[in-house]
Amino acid sequence: MALIEQDFKLRRTKLARQLKKGVLVIATAPQQIRNADTHFNYRWDSNFHYLTGFREPNAVLLMVIDNGEAKTVLFCQPKDKEKEIWDGIRLGPEAAIEQLSVDEAYSIDELNEKLPSYLINQSTVYSTWGERTALEESIFKAINQVKSMVRQGVSAPFQLVDVRSAIHEMRLIKDQVEIEIMRQAAHIAALAHNRAMLAIKNAHYEYEIEAELLHEFKKQGADAPAYPSIVAAGSNATILHYIENQAYLNKQQLMLIDAGCEWQGYASDITRTFPMNGQFSEAQKLLYQIVLNAQLEAIKVIKPGAQFNDYHHCAVRVLVEGLIDLKLCQGSVDGVIESGDYRRFYMHRTGHWLGRDVHDVGEYTHNGHSRTLEEGMVMTVEPGLYVRADASVPEAFHGIGIRIEDDVVVTGNGVEVLTHEAYKTIDEIESWMNQ
Ligand code: GLY
Ligand code: MN
Ligand code: MN
Repeated sequence: MALIEQDFKLRRTKLARQLKKGVLVIATAPQQIRNADTHFNYRWDSNFHYLTGFREPNAVLLMVIDNGEAKTVLFCQPKDKEKEIWDGIRLGPEAAIEQLSVDEAYSIDELNEKLPSYLINQSTVYSTWGERTALEESIFKAINQVKSMVRQGVSAPFQLVDVRSAIHEMRLIKDQVEIEIMRQAAHIAALAHNRAMLAIKNAHYEYEIEAELLHEFKKQGADAPAYPSIVAAGSNATILHYIENQAYLNKQQLMLIDAGCEWQGYASDITRTFPMNGQFSEAQKLLYQIVLNAQLEAIKVIKPGAQFNDYHHCAVRVLVEGLIDLKLCQGSVDGVIESGDYRRFYMHRTGHWLGRDVHDVGEYTHNGHSRTLEEGMVMTVEPGLYVRADASVPEAFHGIGIRIEDDVVVTGNGVEVLTHEAYKTIDEIESWMNQ
């Protein structure tokens, strides 16, 4: 399944209906220079791509909206035989009209010249203000040009409105095609995690496992990792954003892998933790089972009508019960939750929206309250426990970091776990690693 130009057009139509009147101008992401004449791998802007499906850099989408109806104009790189020999084929304005289903298309070189004409007698300009300096310079120049014409009886825009909240609310609820794409992103990432569990047997360094993940992502046609993969052996797993991935492996320890890929512009985000020798030790098992219980219970809480915070609170309660059982925290469950003493071992939230961006857009609160969940929202469920070497903690637990992360979509009455193929229970992991 793939998104086609009519899907992107429908999104523009929906957005125009909401905005009602004005001119929308948004740019895709700029290319980033790595050094000399080499660029970082190009990644388009998520909002721009959401509305166009267009992957080339140097492009601007303009929509003239009146009465909820839009005329759509695309500015893009012109065809250029010489440049295309070096950098690849460009769609060009002429083909863009049909292939991207837009009403007009021009060379990006014409943006500054044409922009004022779209702004005449408009009151509102919608954009992603504060994000794209070069585009904003063009817009302000164009507004000033229109202002200089006011004695000719025209008016210039006087309201600059941030369009992101409208687009982000749309992006928060995924439709069936998006969910199908996210299933595939999840499937590929699950294969990569399962592959890593097998590859550990012959590996000596963390980076060898990172290579296995990349191999599976690219072999399956994923665009790229959705974020830098975390391959953390032993106590490196207690560093939440560890991405060095250089350490030598001590096979008696656990490995934590947090890795996901991007498939057709959508991310997956999975964490698995497993014993590098294929057999959980007693101490590893005790902590692992607590995190697993917390994750499974948290997933059960997610359904339409529940609040976003509910599953975090559920996970914290199960983790705290486990920490008290193991005497890592003292007192009553409510007392430890209230004092926050558990934060020595669990210092992050239990999940975030997932979509085109790994930490996807959309508000987490409404009118000061945690957001009510709706069908089509996609989020991660990722409790963990991270035990640093500390005199107050039995030595057997020192340096153990565990996180278990799945991606779920809210359905009519609960969730679908998109990442269910990545092995997760103690039995599943041990049998897979010892086949
Ligand atoms: N991989 C980033 C996260 O889990 O939030
Ligand atoms: Mn995550
Ligand atoms: Mn993650």
